[in-house]
Amino acid sequence: MRLAGKRALVTGAGSGIGRAIAVAFAAEGARVGIVDVDPAGGEETLAEVRRLSGGFFFAADVSKAADAEAMVAAAVRELGGLDVLVNNAGVGVAATLHETSLEDWQRVIDIDLTGVFLGCKYAIPVFLNQGHGNIINIASVAGLVGVANRAAYNAAKAGVVGLTKSIAADYSARGIRANAICPGTVDSPWIQKILASDPDAAATRRKMEQRQLLGRMGRPEEIARLAVYLASDESEFMTGSAVVIDGGMTAV
Ligand SMILES: NC(=O)c1ccc[n+]([C@@H]2O[C@H](COP(=O)([O-])OP(=O)(O)OC[C@H]3O[C@@H](n4cnc5c(N)ncnc54)[C@H](O)[C@@H]3O)[C@@H](O)[C@H]2O)c1
Repeated sequence: MRLAGKRALVTGAGSGIGRAIAVAFAAEGARVGIVDVDPAGGEETLAEVRRLSGGFFFAADVSKAADAEAMVAAAVRELGGLDVLVNNAGVGVAATLHETSLEDWQRVIDIDLTGVFLGCKYAIPVFLNQGHGNIINIASVAGLVGVANRAAYNAAKAGVVGLTKSIAADYSARGIRANAICPGTVDSPWIQKILASDPDAAATRRKMEQRQLLGRMGRPEEIARLAVYLASDESEFMTGSAVVIDGGMTAV
C-alpha cells in the first residue's frame, strides 16, 4: 500500500494509460477521482477503482477552464483534499507542420498543453493551502526529441516538459513536486485505433514495435508503475524531471 491515504485526480482516465494509472493508484491504497470527456470509459474505470479502493467519476474537458476548475473542486469535495494530480488526457494529430491545419494545431495545443496548464492552475492553490502537492504530467518522448509527422503533438509535449520544470522552479520551496513521464510507444486504445484504420496494420504494428530497442511496445501498466513511484513518498527527492520510459527508443 504505497499510496495509502493519498487522494489523487487522474485526467483522461477513461482509457489506456490514464485508466492503468487510476487502477494502479487504487491498488496501492489511494482514492482516485477519474476525469474524462467520455463518461462510458470513465464509469468503467470507476468500477475497477471501486473494487480496490474509493473514488468518483467527473465528466470534464480539460481544455476548458470552467471544467478544470470544477474537477479540482470535485476532488476537494469528494476526497477531502488533493495530494496528487496526474495530467494525462491527450490527443494527437498526424501531420507535418505545413500540413497541419490551424484548427488541428489549436485542438492539440488546447488539450495536450493548455489542459495541463489549467489542471495545475487550479490544483496549485489547493496544494499551497495544504503545504504539499504532487503533479505528474504525462508528456512523451515527443516532448524531448523530434518525431516525424507529429508537429503539433511535438510542440505540445515539449511545452508540457517545460511547464513541469517551471513548476519545480516556482514551487519546490512550498512543498509542491512536479515530474513528467515521457513514454515511448504504448499499446493503448489510442494506438489500437490507429492500427484499426490502417490497411497494412500488421506491418505498421511491427514498425511501431521496432521503434523501441526492446522490440515491443510498452504496456499501460508499465507506465502506471512509474506513476505510482512518482506519486509515492519513495520519490520525494525527485522534482522537475522528465523521466523517459521508452524501451530504449531514444537511447540511440
Ligand atoms: N500510447 C502512446 O503510445 C503514448 C506515448 C507517449 C505518450 N502518450 C500520452 O499518454 C496519454 C494517454 O494516452 P493513451 O495512449 O492512454 O490514449 P487513449 O486515447 O487510450 O486515452 C486518452 C483518454 O483521454 C481522454 N481525453 C481526450 N481528450 C480529453 C479532454 N479534452 N478532456 C478530458 N479527457 C480527454 C479520452 O477520452 C481517453 O479516455 C496522452 O497524453 C498521450 O499523449 C501516449
